Amino acid sequence: MTPKVVLVTGATGGLGSAIVEKFIAQGDFVYLLDLDEKRIDEAVNHYGSQTSGFVLDVRSEESVANGIARIIAEKGKIDVLVNNAGLQHRDKVEDFPLEKWQLLIDVMLTGVFLMTKYVFPHMKEARYGRIINISSVHGKMASPEKAAYVAAKHGVIGLTDVTGIEGASFGITVNAVCPGAVKTPLLVKQLEDLNKSEGLTESEALSRIVYPRQAMNRFIEAEEIADTVVFLASEAAKAITMEHIKVAGGM
Ligand SMILES: NC(=O)c1ccc[n+]([C@@H]2O[C@H](COP(=O)([O-])OP(=O)(O)OC[C@H]3O[C@@H](n4cnc5c(N)ncnc54)[C@H](O)[C@@H]3O)[C@@H](O)[C@H]2O)c1
Repeated sequence: MTPKVVLVTGATGGLGSAIVEKFIAQGDFVYLLDLDEKRIDEAVNHYGSQTSGFVLDVRSEESVANGIARIIAEKGKIDVLVNNAGLQHRDKVEDFPLEKWQLLIDVMLTGVFLMTKYVFPHMKEARYGRIINISSVHGKMASPEKAAYVAAKHGVIGLTDVTGIEGASFGITVNAVCPGAVKTPLLVKQLEDLNKSEGLTESEALSRIVYPRQAMNRFIEAEEIADTVVFLASEAAKAITMEHIKVAGGM
C-alpha cells in the first residue's frame, strides 16, 4: 500500500504526538505542524524519515495557504488531515477577556475552517480524503468557566457536518473525535490552576470536575484517542462520515 500523506496540527502536543506515532507505525508519512520550530525540529529528528514538519499557525490564512502549497509541492497529495491544535482558558463569562475568547475561537474553530478550506480542493481533485477534527466532550456538553472552549468545540461539530456533506460525493469523509480527560499539558495546566485558585489536589480536582460525569473513573490515554483517529482514516471506516465519536470512558 502506498503510504498516506497525513497532516497533524498541534503535532508536538500531548494528543498530537500520540496521533503522529500511530500513523508512523502503520507506515504513513506525517507532516508535523505546530507553532514552536525547535520542538518541531526535535520531533522530526526523533521520528526520522517518515516525517517532516514546519511552523504553521492555524489562525493565519497566509500561514495555512503557504503550508498546504508547500506540502502539495513536496508530496503532490494530502490524504489525511487531523485538526488537533488547541488550548484552554478558564474564566467566568463576565470575567472572560475578549482576547482570550478570540484566541480560542481562532485556533480551534477558525483554524479548523482554514485548514479544511485549503486542503479540500486537493482532496476533491483526488476524489479521496479523510478529515478528522479533534473536538471534545465539550463539543457535546458544557462545563462552567469554559465559554470559549465549549463554543469552539460545539462549532467544530457543526463544521464537521457541513464539510462532511460537501465532501461526500468526492470520496471525502469528515468526522469529529470527542476526547474526555486526557492527561496532556492542556489538562495538567487546568489541574494546576485549580490547585492555585482553590487549593485542590489533582485527585480532588478530578473527583470534582471529571469523575462524577464519567463512568470509568480514569484518565483516557492519548493512545486511545489516536487509535480512533487512525481507524477513522482507514479503509475500514470509508462509510463513516459526519460522526462525532466520544472517546471518554462513558461521559
Ligand atoms: N487533553 C484533554 O483532556 C483533551 C480533551 C478533549 C479535547 N482535547 C483536544 O485535543 C487537542 C490536543 O490537545 P492536547 O491535550 O494534546 O493539548 P496540548 O497543549 O498538549 O497540545 C496542543 C498543541 O496545539 C498547538 N497549537 C496551539 N495553538 C496553535 C496554532 N495557532 N497553530 C498550530 N498549533 C497550535 C500547541 O503548540 C500544542 O503543541 C486540542 O484540540 C484539545 O482541545 C484535549
